[in-house]
Amino acid sequence: MKPSAIIDCDPGHDDVMAILLGARMLDLRGITTVFGNASLAQTTRNARQTVEFAELTDIPIAMGLAQPLVRDIRHAPEVHGETGLDGPRLEPPSVPLAEEHATDFIIGKATTVPDLHLVPVGPLTNIATALHRDPTLPEHVKQIRLMGGSLTFGNSTPAAEFNIWCDPEAAHVVFSSGIPIKMVGLNVTRQVAATPERRAQIRKIGNRASGIVADMLDFYSERLRALFGLPGGSMHDPLAVAALVDPDILRFEPMHVAIELRGTHTYGMTVCDARHLGTDDAMPAGGVHRGEPPNAEVAVDVNADRFWELFLDVLATYP
Ligand code: BDR
Ligand code: CA
Repeated sequence: MKPSAIIDCDPGHDDVMAILLGARMLDLRGITTVFGNASLAQTTRNARQTVEFAELTDIPIAMGLAQPLVRDIRHAPEVHGETGLDGPRLEPPSVPLAEEHATDFIIGKATTVPDLHLVPVGPLTNIATALHRDPTLPEHVKQIRLMGGSLTFGNSTPAAEFNIWCDPEAAHVVFSSGIPIKMVGLNVTRQVAATPERRAQIRKIGNRASGIVADMLDFYSERLRALFGLPGGSMHDPLAVAALVDPDILRFEPMHVAIELRGTHTYGMTVCDARHLGTDDAMPAGGVHRGEPPNAEVAVDVNADRFWELFLDVLATYP
């Protein structure tokens, strides 16, 4: 049986890849949108364009929060362009939005769909707000598989990853909620790059969706090459979905993850307590006194080839 899920996103090139993978491999009950890579109006428009070009218009889209809980709003035009999805030419969308607000949508599905997973791949504002509005939500959600944070360094700042940095207070609420969390962070997602060879494989599939995806990845990869010297666009968000589909793509370790809310240079950092793992000869595994109990499982290793096999197979199923 496919795991039931909602993808909460801010499309964004890699968010689109998460939707395409999730729509085929999960029992995808809906897409909720949040500000992030671009304004909420724009990310919602991008989600609607995605379900239209992929012929997924039966998946409801509910619009969520337009700004973070506390901090000032930030977007990522330097990575995703002014629209949040620059690159391919897409038709203006006509598919209607769900009438409910994203937070009501999440609460409604969590209380009616057994074993629902939340897959947030943008700032955690919608999830944190749903938790405030319905404190019983943790009893109904099976698991959160999120793309965000890092076991090592950040991208928006030396310490912080974009999704967490966009709304650290919301991330703190989510990581304190008691819902089982699997965190797929930059330390693994940056290892899966849409290199020119991978983009050529995608284009070769030959269907319309793959052509659009290849155009998206060309734009996104060029931006990440210029910004960070990466060999191709990082497949951040689809990896959070992949983790739910194939347990052999990512390896996780339990850890306590605290969100830094005060640091001058570290605001939005995911402070992962990995001391028990032992990373060098001087600090062997298990040789450390106990810290806070784990509140998350953090991805520590990724099988990139296995991810690409899955992703290419899924793309071939689209029109
Ligand atoms: C995350 O930030 C966004 O730009 C991507 O869509 C991804 O969710 C990576 O830091
Ligand atoms: Ca995203």
